[in-house]
Amino acid sequence: NYYSSLTHCETKLEVHPVIDSTNSELMRRIQKGDSLESGTVIVAQMQTAGRGRRGRTWQSPFGANLYYSYYWLLDDGLQAAMGLSIVVGIAIYDTLEKLFGIKVQLKWPNDILVNDKKLAGVLVELDGQPQGPCKLVIGIGLNIKMPESYSEHIDQPWTDLSLLNQNNGVIDKNKLVAQLTHCLEIRLDEYRTEGLLNMHKEWNQLHAFQDQLVTLATGKRNWQGVCEGIDAQGGIKIRQDGEVKSYFGGEISLRKA
Ligand code: ATP
Ligand code: BTN
Repeated sequence: NYYSSLTHCETKLEVHPVIDSTNSELMRRIQKGDSLESGTVIVAQMQTAGRGRRGRTWQSPFGANLYYSYYWLLDDGLQAAMGLSIVVGIAIYDTLEKLFGIKVQLKWPNDILVNDKKLAGVLVELDGQPQGPCKLVIGIGLNIKMPESYSEHIDQPWTDLSLLNQNNGVIDKNKLVAQLTHCLEIRLDEYRTEGLLNMHKEWNQLHAFQDQLVTLATGKRNWQGVCEGIDAQGGIKIRQDGEVKSYFGGEISLRKA
């Protein structure tokens, strides 16, 4: 078993050589009503239908990259799900800082960048009612060593750990999965007890677009403003004509203007 030496944590871990999408697999099980332990992790060596936000494709070739999904059962309903990409971004920062000394930057709501290039992405999906328990799937795609030929399939600047000089991409995935899970669980606990009270300040320190002019796009309309970081609910604060407004929801994209 590829991850058999994973002894660092007690998480229930499943490894698939090939799968459509680790997020889809957990969502299917939730919808079927399978019994799932909170903290279950699924990783795959390759995804045939890796997904980003709004039905976009996440390139997921066989090889060294990480395709990872974590199941989290939250008692407190949908509201809390909103800020979760923020929490996961910080957990990825913690992991890469600790293992490799890499300091990533975060782009609202779900992108992990190094030198303005995308190294990783987060996709949070859920099944729940406005009140009561909420079943969450936290998906993380992290590039370790992308095959050369994939450049042309990704329509924005991207990078991977091997390009960042991390041991030519020869990385102990057991350690990576264990560290990531550990950091994630610490931050999820913090989120459960105090929300983004402190984490939104930490996030703003890592913010790739802080105080920069950005274009916001909804698909229908584009407008510009200065990005002032996130608030304690995880909304992005934009200054326009001297007024600051927070925006929420997964349907907005930000670009440097
Ligand atoms: P936003 O999240 O602001 O809407 P986005 O363009 O990053 O913007 P996402 O849905 O978060 O959109 O991510 C999907 C996009 O990520 C794809 O459209 C592609 O441009 C890029 N992408 C796909 N696969 C990879 C990968 N393995 N590594 C880096 N980037 C990728
Ligand atoms: C994004 O930037 O849009 C998010 C990309 C998330 C990709 C990961 S890979 C593991 C999990 N399975 C998926 O299909 N997507 C997420």
